[in-house]
Amino acid sequence: MESLERQIEQAADLVATSARIIIFTGAGVSTESGIPDFRGPDGIWSKYDPEDFTIDRFLSDSKVRKLHWELLVGGGLTMTRAQPNPAHYAIAELEKMGKLYGVVTQNVDGLHQKAGVSDNMVFQLHGDLSHARCLSCSTRYPMEEIIEWMKEDIDEPECGECKGMLKPDAVFFGEQLPYEVLMESESRSRSCDLCIVLGSSLVVYPAALIPRYAQQGGAKLVIINMGPTEMDRMADIRIEAKAGEVTPQIIDRARSKMGVK
Ligand code: APR
Repeated sequence: MESLERQIEQAADLVATSARIIIFTGAGVSTESGIPDFRGPDGIWSKYDPEDFTIDRFLSDSKVRKLHWELLVGGGLTMTRAQPNPAHYAIAELEKMGKLYGVVTQNVDGLHQKAGVSDNMVFQLHGDLSHARCLSCSTRYPMEEIIEWMKEDIDEPECGECKGMLKPDAVFFGEQLPYEVLMESESRSRSCDLCIVLGSSLVVYPAALIPRYAQQGGAKLVIINMGPTEMDRMADIRIEAKAGEVTPQIIDRARSKMGVK
């Protein structure tokens, strides 16, 4: 296998010579911000049953809803307090360099926007946890507000308008992904010239189609991940490293190759 140094150099060459870069991120880009991933060694699915995270279970089982809200209040706090890490800031740097064609993310933590990437350049395939919505009257509430309610020892928050059931804005297993977000992500991925995957096992569809669309459109593919992914064989460059460590190095090298201060 190529040395890490050589791989960083090759990836920097691709960034320096590309104009429309799609960054595809998964939970692995946020672990260095303190947010656990799903399938890594200590991931969420090693502690909880994914079956409890389907929309059907959420709608039909009040125990499952209570589990979700407990996690959101606990985990949600981790998420709202989490700060971007060097990988998120390196991606924001790409936008400043005029090379970012979009961040297509599976994450619901909002850290790309917190790091400074423009809202209209972040495509959240799995929604986000910034709000929850009433399933009866569609009233939306900021998650912070609901977390405050939960401190009053509420185990399942209900809509303040109609007492309806509230559901976080993240996409649950069994739910459709937001159509416009998916269509725009597909279209940009098919017309990008470089796709960089950061911290994803690439096992969940339709999100995992994004790097495939990029390659079908003729783009180069770089995968930076700790541990194997489903698309390692397809990658032009496959880097086994922490996203927060190598992404800033790649972007810095690309900047100096472009003579950008
Ligand atoms: N740098 C690089 N890779 C990392 C890092 C890191 N700092 N930390 C973890 N990883 C790797 C893990 O080893 C794992 O291979 O990132 C990958 C994350 O994969 P998953 O946990 O499967 O997360 P993701 O690919 O985002 O999952 C997709 O599955 O459960 C659903 O909806 C959920 O959006 C999620 C989707």
